[in-house]
Amino acid sequence: MPIVGLNLGKSSFRAVELESKKGGLVLNNFGIFESPALNLESTDEHDLDKFSAAIADFYNEVGFSTPEVVLGLDEVHVFMRIIKMPNMNDKELASALKYEAEQYVPLPMDQVNLSWRRLEPDFTEKDKINIQIVASRKDILEKYVTLARRAKLVPKAIEPETIALGRILGDTSGAPLGTMILDIGFSGSLIVVSYGGAVRFTRAIPIGGDVLTRTIQQQLSLDLPQAEEYKKVYGMDPAQADGRVYDVIKPVIDSLILEVKRADVFFTKHNSFASIKRLVVTGGAALMPNLISYIAQNVEAEVQLANPLSSLEISSKISKHTDLLFEQAPKYSAAIGLAMRGIQ
Ligand SMILES: Nc1ncnc2c1ncn2[C@@H]1O[C@H](COP(=O)(O)OP(=O)(O)OP(=O)(O)O)[C@@H](O)[C@H]1O
Ligand SMILES: [Mg+2]
Repeated sequence: MPIVGLNLGKSSFRAVELESKKGGLVLNNFGIFESPALNLESTDEHDLDKFSAAIADFYNEVGFSTPEVVLGLDEVHVFMRIIKMPNMNDKELASALKYEAEQYVPLPMDQVNLSWRRLEPDFTEKDKINIQIVASRKDILEKYVTLARRAKLVPKAIEPETIALGRILGDTSGAPLGTMILDIGFSGSLIVVSYGGAVRFTRAIPIGGDVLTRTIQQQLSLDLPQAEEYKKVYGMDPAQADGRVYDVIKPVIDSLILEVKRADVFFTKHNSFASIKRLVVTGGAALMPNLISYIAQNVEAEVQLANPLSSLEISSKISKHTDLLFEQAPKYSAAIGLAMRGIQ
């Protein structure tokens, strides 16, 4: 059964349709809807109707073959923690976690939907088990379900975008290297630490592509579309435009790198057995010229541009239209991770 992963980003909607065939994953279809200019935070009925109509139009235009969809949840509506518990069976754990989670989730428990999974134990505390708990705001989940249904879709699951990113770009349990993912989107960035096949730590940073564009706009006295163009064409390349674009956005990128380093220090301080060996950069702004090599010069980990397509086969039906998909692959990381959730 094919399934669609739908990432409702602030600058665009992205969706991919995946299907499991003979053990491999096939990308059947994909689509992007730029600048939806819609506000998902609104509680106004009229806005919700517009939003679901936009999703329905997008869906029909791309021509996905199934209404079944996995949606991504914005980091602000989710609380994810790893907690240590004494060893016990699943039934005992389920009831113990109800009370335990209360300490970690800053909302009343009746307002969140709690899910959990066991992780590999630490080397340090063998008698304790590690549990990943994910608490999502119920009102937001309900809103997503309503939106999807009004768009005539069948929501199979809704999960945090950070977990989806970890699934497609993070460590596997067979290769627990220690991976940090930096997703640089429009309104901000996400830092996700994946270790031993699971997401262990997440943080949202209010620095994204929009801040970069506005910095260029203000400091070089350009209009917004021009500034956006400069960002995409010159980016972090000091040899372009006399280094003027590089000079103005360098401090912004440096503060993002500082956050990456802070997250690394924080994570390894609390998980002394782990170290982060790899930094995978994804999201639209990861495509900025020379960004990856600039980051690589400033962090110790190996730095890579995300390639969420590497484990997928491309269906022959779409293989003629995939130039832009390959060019912009890091924009699709979350959507692909979401669809994979539906297949597992
Ligand atoms: N080729 C490119 N070079 C540089 N920046 C780019 C490029 N393509 C897209 N961007 C930037 O990436 C940002 C959008 O990234 P992305 O599509 O990951 O965001 P989003 O997921 O919609 O937003 P958010 O994560 O905030 O909800 C925009 O600021 C855009 O200018
Ligand atoms: Mg995003």
